[in-house]
Amino acid sequence: MSQSAPASWIADRSQAFDSSGIRKVFDLAASLEDPINLSIGQPDFDVPESVQLACVEAIRQGKNAYSPSQGIGALRERLQSDIDQRYGHADRDVFISSGTSGGLVLAILSLVNPGDEVIIFDPYFVMYSPLVQLVGGQPVLIDTYPDFRIDLNQVEAAISDRTKLILFNSPANPTGVTPSRDEIVGLAQLADRHNVALLSDEIYSQFVYDGDFVSPADTNPQTIVIDGFSKSHAMTGWRVGWVHGPSEVIQTMIKLQQYSFVCAPQPAQWAGLAALDVEMTQHRHDYQAKRDLLVDGLRDHYEFTTPGGAFYLFPKAPGGSGTDFVTRAIEHGLLVIPSSIFSRHDSHFRISYAASDETIERGIQVLRRLAASA
Ligand SMILES: Cc1ncc(COP(=O)(O)O)c(C=O)c1O
Repeated sequence: MSQSAPASWIADRSQAFDSSGIRKVFDLAASLEDPINLSIGQPDFDVPESVQLACVEAIRQGKNAYSPSQGIGALRERLQSDIDQRYGHADRDVFISSGTSGGLVLAILSLVNPGDEVIIFDPYFVMYSPLVQLVGGQPVLIDTYPDFRIDLNQVEAAISDRTKLILFNSPANPTGVTPSRDEIVGLAQLADRHNVALLSDEIYSQFVYDGDFVSPADTNPQTIVIDGFSKSHAMTGWRVGWVHGPSEVIQTMIKLQQYSFVCAPQPAQWAGLAALDVEMTQHRHDYQAKRDLLVDGLRDHYEFTTPGGAFYLFPKAPGGSGTDFVTRAIEHGLLVIPSSIFSRHDSHFRISYAASDETIERGIQVLRRLAASA
């Protein structure tokens, strides 16, 4: 029997990127006994109790079958009404996706032809570039270092006649940066002027600490918005998100959902409906306090842009190499992520402060020692 067949079965598209960097970090981390874990991109609080009960209740009531591809009517109607009230756009439909990630996959499949260019701000959420490559698109990275602001002239210069889509994310993973209202309005107008699709990943919209959340959809009614319950209600394993935008795009995404994800898990959709009635403001205040704790603890020791949202800080790595620094941090029992996972540059590292205050304090102590010995 041949031993070599499986390697030759693998499709070329999967070769466009690899995950060896992050795997190396996690392999190293697996050897730690009681790590100070500041690497995780999910809240440290649990799913609110009423949301847990709503899920159990849905299961008990036998709401366990497939739902319509576009999601259960009750959740869609509730979201549609909230969206209509907020935006008042004549052509803005919503459907329920299998998490924000499911929405991203369907959006890219629906919009990007082979050879199309997609503008991505570097650093970026890990899925963006590989997803574009998977469908044969060309990621065009716009460097936002050192302050992670959006330079509209740079965006304008990057637009070609092959540009199809701009991927935008605020508050951002991995930097926590929230671009200013002017930058967001400018980007929304620019996309409109060039007839380029604009996708706004708003998964951290509930975690904005300085000022109000601003969506490019406030300015550009064609903006496709992706949001979800993963971060706001700690429902990362429940896989429920939603997408809203022009009906033509949404209908295409629903069609593709039928042939891929089928639907978001039905009991979790009922839980999502209950989640919309839970007041989460206290968690936002708690996370703002965690942001301040970390920023105050590291301000005199590291170079970084103070994040306005999400739950990440993205400092420059002392010594210059993010990977070397993270290896050293892990040797001291601290888990953080090198920027090479999110970027063309291996010069920074990501700290997640979605952790207990005690864990953050312990992390600060190790990080101060590491900075002093760099
Ligand atoms: C910017 C961003 N978008 C999307 C996701 C995926 O979220 P979901 O769990 O809804 O698929 C994440 C998760 O880390 C994220 O940081």
